[in-house]
Amino acid sequence: MNDVLYVNGRFTTTDERVLGVEDRGFQFGDALYEVFKFLRKRPIFLGDHFHRLERGLREIEIRNPWDESSFAAMTRELLDRTSFDDGIVYVQISRGEAERVHFWPDDIAPTAIAYSRRFIFPDAAKKERGISVITTRDLRWSACNVKSVNLLGNAIAKKRAQRAGAGEALLIDEGIVREGASSNFFAVRDGHLITHPLDEHILPGVVRDRVIGLALAAKIRVDERPLREAELFRLEEAFMTSTTQGVMPVSEIDGRVVANSRRGEITATLQQALDTLELS
Ligand code: PDD
Repeated sequence: MNDVLYVNGRFTTTDERVLGVEDRGFQFGDALYEVFKFLRKRPIFLGDHFHRLERGLREIEIRNPWDESSFAAMTRELLDRTSFDDGIVYVQISRGEAERVHFWPDDIAPTAIAYSRRFIFPDAAKKERGISVITTRDLRWSACNVKSVNLLGNAIAKKRAQRAGAGEALLIDEGIVREGASSNFFAVRDGHLITHPLDEHILPGVVRDRVIGLALAAKIRVDERPLREAELFRLEEAFMTSTTQGVMPVSEIDGRVVANSRRGEITATLQQALDTLELS
């Protein structure tokens, strides 16, 4: 495979070995990442992704090698060099490479990479059918608002879901439904949305934020409040949101059917609204 790869200001392909073994992203998980989508070579919600990256880097004191316009220029060139029209871009910035000690040198230079990947987004049938999910314990740390590459807790949860034949794992912590292993969670009750508030327990999803905006524009009430695990079984509808899956209906939770296993009206409305927004 030789997808186009950006690394520290130059373009190469993914078959070039580019990382030092003492890169802190590799040894300490000392790195942040972003995943955004492109359609017909147009990046979707690029500014939102850049701003989340910028906030995260500031929070953990990694120097951002980009401002918004150089990030957009890098993306433009990456997509110009890419041989396909639709896919995702993975961006990662690590603190950089230094002799392995826990504290880092103050003058360390970040390692920035980005590459594009082909991605098959859910088709109409999948978007109607939705996914089943399982609940599992949230094993992650207490700064989940930062999009860190420390994804072991997420990866274990996702593997459990896969083994159970489910499409996603809902992470439960202190009896509260936090989010999915790689998505945010929305419930529908009494005709309004419930989703976890923005805090250290969840990632501030770009699609989560856009969906809240679309819901409010459609006069659908949104309660950002913790949802107790026990409430999961009294829902009218439920869906997950993420860059790669958009608004994805949840048809079953731990083997129990949600909303007769049919995509609900509010879910369908928001799916449609998001598709339109992405293409506008
Ligand atoms: N995951 N929560 C977690 C833990 C995530 O990893 C993701 C995204 C989301 C949704 O965020 P957004 O709407 O910005 O994509 C929520 C990406 C897609 C991934 O790891 O591949």
